[in-house]
Amino acid sequence: MDQNIAPLAARRSGPLKGRTRVPGDKSISHRSLILGALTVGQTRITGLLEGEDVINTGKAMRALGAAVERTGEGAWRVNGVGVAGFATPAAPLDFGNSGTGCRLVIGAVAGCPVTATFDGDASLRTRPMRRVLDPLERMGARASSVAEGGRLPLTLAGARDPVPIVYEPPVASAQLKSAVLLAGLAAPGETVVIEQEASRDHTERMLRHFGATVRVENEGAHGRRITLTGQPELTPAPITVPADPSSASFPLVAGLIVPGSEVILEGVMLNPLRTGLFATLREMGAAIEELDRRDEGGEDIADLRVRACALRGVTVPPERAPAMIDEYPVLAVAASFAEGTTRMRGLKELRVKESDRLAATVAMLRLNGVDVEVEGDDLIVHGRGRAGGGGLVATHMDHRIAMSALVMGLASEQPVRVDDTAFIATSFPGFVDMMRRMGGDFG
Ligand code: S3P
Repeated sequence: MDQNIAPLAARRSGPLKGRTRVPGDKSISHRSLILGALTVGQTRITGLLEGEDVINTGKAMRALGAAVERTGEGAWRVNGVGVAGFATPAAPLDFGNSGTGCRLVIGAVAGCPVTATFDGDASLRTRPMRRVLDPLERMGARASSVAEGGRLPLTLAGARDPVPIVYEPPVASAQLKSAVLLAGLAAPGETVVIEQEASRDHTERMLRHFGATVRVENEGAHGRRITLTGQPELTPAPITVPADPSSASFPLVAGLIVPGSEVILEGVMLNPLRTGLFATLREMGAAIEELDRRDEGGEDIADLRVRACALRGVTVPPERAPAMIDEYPVLAVAASFAEGTTRMRGLKELRVKESDRLAATVAMLRLNGVDVEVEGDDLIVHGRGRAGGGGLVATHMDHRIAMSALVMGLASEQPVRVDDTAFIATSFPGFVDMMRRMGGDFG
């Protein structure tokens, strides 16, 4: 991570106009490198997100024995070592700011007879790891950490003979589910994950893409039962990474709240387990048009056209949270510019993201004159169709807080300043330049 602190202000802007493509999906990018490394042969990836989080996952794959090579912009080649084929790395694996990279690789290592040390930056060192270590220890891995709660840095000895488990995660988390499935690759028989709330399914889809047998059945009203047959031989297959809907949410919300704007975002992934924000914004009155809906690499994508319009407050049900878990800070910004109250229910998991995102979002809004409350795990924003702005927002090493605050500033009466934009590069390199090209005023 570039440790130079980079403060920035976003000022009220004229209409945002333009057509642009946000970077590749972060979840799919991490998984393409990890699963590519577990295949036998060469996987070619195009459209990879070249943000710091994903680059760190690539470095970890190299340290574990795969050949990972950049061949052009967003174009990468991975020569894998096969399931359970990782080698013991010579040095600790550093995941920087990325919980996803770290937890997924912990899972992948847990099924291999190697020992690795996992570390990250000050933000990642505060995040809970016990949740992944518990099921992986049941499968035969052994973790040791000097920090309380199994936090980083931790050392993991993978299982020599991993055992398959039936696992019901205590929280809706694609990272947790994926860690268990990745460890289950090396186990004989069936590894089962039962989710009460379906979370993003990129791991399941990509496992199938590489030839594994994965059965997915509905479980209860909102859940899924995922059964992986262990010890497959994964065969390489090309991966095309679509544009990240979570990254698209920032220019999209900016296009809705900056008067007179019209923005087109190209090739945005519309996986239904990722599009909770778009559904919510439509309920608030947003016109988000899908142009040229098509398939790319096994995912539905479309160009999204948004025009600025009046928004109204809504209630967002808790069962929608997994499909928009990363989008609440920017939804809270949209809710500030809506008329009426928006209640976002069931946001417990926001407290353990790159920052305590619930607290950081509340502080961001309050500092900029928006009336906001927290009731239990609910975030309540009383929108008045405007925000005063004028606040200096602490981003707490959290890229999504930084981008949300800057989006807010583009439509606020006074500029919104952020203390540090450096972490935006973890997921969305070039964000500020892209917004400037569409007419955003930053300085
Ligand atoms: C991700 C899962 C989510 C999300 C993160 C990416 C993934 O985390 O917040 O940005 O790629 O699996 P949880 O699974 O912990 O909710």
